[in-house]
Amino acid sequence: MVEIDETASNILEKLSTILEKPYRALGLGAGLVFLLLLLYHLAYLGGGYFGPFFTFLHVVSGITWIGLLYYFNLVQIPIVPNIPAELKPAIGKYIAPEALFWFRWSALATVVTGLIVFSTSSAVHNFTIITGAILGLIMAFNVWYIIWPNQKKVLGLVPADDDEKAKAARLAMLTSRTNFVLSLPMLYCMVTARLLVG
Ligand code: HEM
Repeated sequence: MVEIDETASNILEKLSTILEKPYRALGLGAGLVFLLLLLYHLAYLGGGYFGPFFTFLHVVSGITWIGLLYYFNLVQIPIVPNIPAELKPAIGKYIAPEALFWFRWSALATVVTGLIVFSTSSAVHNFTIITGAILGLIMAFNVWYIIWPNQKKVLGLVPADDDEKAKAARLAMLTSRTNFVLSLPMLYCMVTARLLVG
């Protein structure tokens, strides 16, 4: 009994060293995916695996991007005005730069993997997916060419006076809110394209 307890606590100890680090935890998740590949999909490695695998990468990068978009619109943007002035730098200096890093690169990864999936024969090529892809491309354009350049001014990564910063913050917020709106029809198209005729 004591030995079983010891083995269990050793396993839990090992597991917690993995869970303590986000990259190790991601590695564990990827390892579990690899296990599923070996169990169920090995036969597809000879052909037909590429499209579905890139759809998987596409959805992972897509939820990273849209998850952060929802974090900005449902949590950060509404709450920042209520934060006491002396605590605000924590958002501007630490949280926002890190969130924006993952936000813009996951947007690019979603576009690249989405276009790869689109170019494979396993993808549907109907009006619904074309509409979703166009909405996604507009949203990614907004991230890289409007939100990020304006956020750089707000965060002080490029020089701007107080007036320019206030204007940049408003434009970035309205563009982010526009992407929030577009995310629903875009996702509707992504998930129904294969399931409904249209
Ligand atoms: C940015 C431009 C984007 C392009 C070019 C694009 C392209 C595609 C393509 C070609 C498919 C495959 C459709 C099929 O054959 O079933 C797809 C599916 C999908 N995409 Fe996107 N996409 C984009 C953005 C996004 C975003 C931002 C998300 C957010 C999560 C997303 C989530 C999905 C989902 C959930 C599927 C369905 C997978 C399935 O059910 O098979 N896409 N996308």
